[in-house]
Amino acid sequence: MTTYRIAVIPGDGIGNEVIPPALKALDALGRRGGFSLAYDEFDWSCARYEATGAMMPPDGLDHIAGHDAILLGAVGSPGVPDHVSLWGLLIPIRRGFRQYVNLRPVKVVPGLPSPLRLSSPVDLVVVRENVEGEYSEIGGRLNRGFPEEMAVQEAVFTRAGVTRVVDYAFELARTRGGHVTSATKSNGIVHTMPFWDEVVRERAARFPGVGWRQEHIDALAAKLVLRPGDFDVIVGSNLFGDVLSDLAAAIAGGIGVAPAANLNPERRFPSMFEPVHGSAPDIAGKGVANPLGSLWSAAMMLDHLGEAEASAALRHAIEAVLAEGSVRTPDLGGTASTTEFADAVVAALPSPAPAARSNAR
Ligand code: NAD
Ligand code: IPM
Ligand code: MN
Repeated sequence: MTTYRIAVIPGDGIGNEVIPPALKALDALGRRGGFSLAYDEFDWSCARYEATGAMMPPDGLDHIAGHDAILLGAVGSPGVPDHVSLWGLLIPIRRGFRQYVNLRPVKVVPGLPSPLRLSSPVDLVVVRENVEGEYSEIGGRLNRGFPEEMAVQEAVFTRAGVTRVVDYAFELARTRGGHVTSATKSNGIVHTMPFWDEVVRERAARFPGVGWRQEHIDALAAKLVLRPGDFDVIVGSNLFGDVLSDLAAAIAGGIGVAPAANLNPERRFPSMFEPVHGSAPDIAGKGVANPLGSLWSAAMMLDHLGEAEASAALRHAIEAVLAEGSVRTPDLGGTASTTEFADAVVAALPSPAPAARSNAR
């Protein structure tokens, strides 16, 4: 029986509430599907920072480099400045493991309360550049406290960095709806964007079967609200992709529902799966966080591990519970707790296949 080694980092706030349901669902799927998951849990978090002065050990990445995947909850706590927690944990993992693709799908399935009047189905995926762009390490604050105080940040776009994420988006579109929208701001005000466009145009020529267009980020944001069904794959820079993925999640009812896969497509390093949302200090500790983003991220992890059947079973169970409609967390208009929703999903998993049953014995 295959055993997958998973590094689990619940992190902060509701990260600690939405990860246990994902593990429960994964275990149930393993029992049914004839595989198992061995979890190594890491307490890397703001609590650890407050106790020890570091979000993770200095050689933290070495501890998880050999795992088959990483499952993360959320990072951030009101007591610790965000730049400390994020540069101390989340960003080093994304960069250190060259997870340059951040895949953020959004599908409006029956039972998800979209705030929009949708005239066509919404099934899109944001492919977010995840290691460079606007999130560069070049910049800083100068002249603190003086009248000439300033903050500067350089956006860094490399030809190699744009090429690989754009190629990923076009390859992905080939397996889906066959269309890529590139998020840009090419009117020359932002110097990096004409370069981004140039690379997109060059790479697009190599994918004759895939249609594409570019949209200015401002107009694209409006079109996503007005006609979300018009989009298949949206590729964007780090910051554009960040904003678009929360907007797209809201189309499906809220950011609690959205999953993400931080991928190292070459599989030289482990990939990381995490909900799109953050640690939600406003609802942390109340047991009401929506575990959907986390459960859906677990399904993406199963796909990545090659357990396509188990992944589909989990997604179908989620969809069945949503469609039935009586169990929902408060963000989606219901009264269910995190655990109640997750338990309903586990209960909706299909019975084990006969082969898997005999394996499990
Ligand atoms: P957030 O996603 O934590 O919360 C935004 C709003 O959405 C809040 O009202 C919250 O209650 C709600 N929400 C989020 N997830 C939910 C869920 N699963 N169920 C129900 N409601 C949910 O974003 P924020 O408030 O901008 O950031 C809070 C902290 O999280 C900050 O420290 C930030 O840096 C961090 N953060 C971390 C990540 C990450 O680890 N990947 C992502 C985003 C934000
Ligand atoms: C996300 C988050 C992070 C990001 C923050 C917390 C650094 O918003 O995962 O979307 O911007 O990448
Ligand atoms: Mn974000």
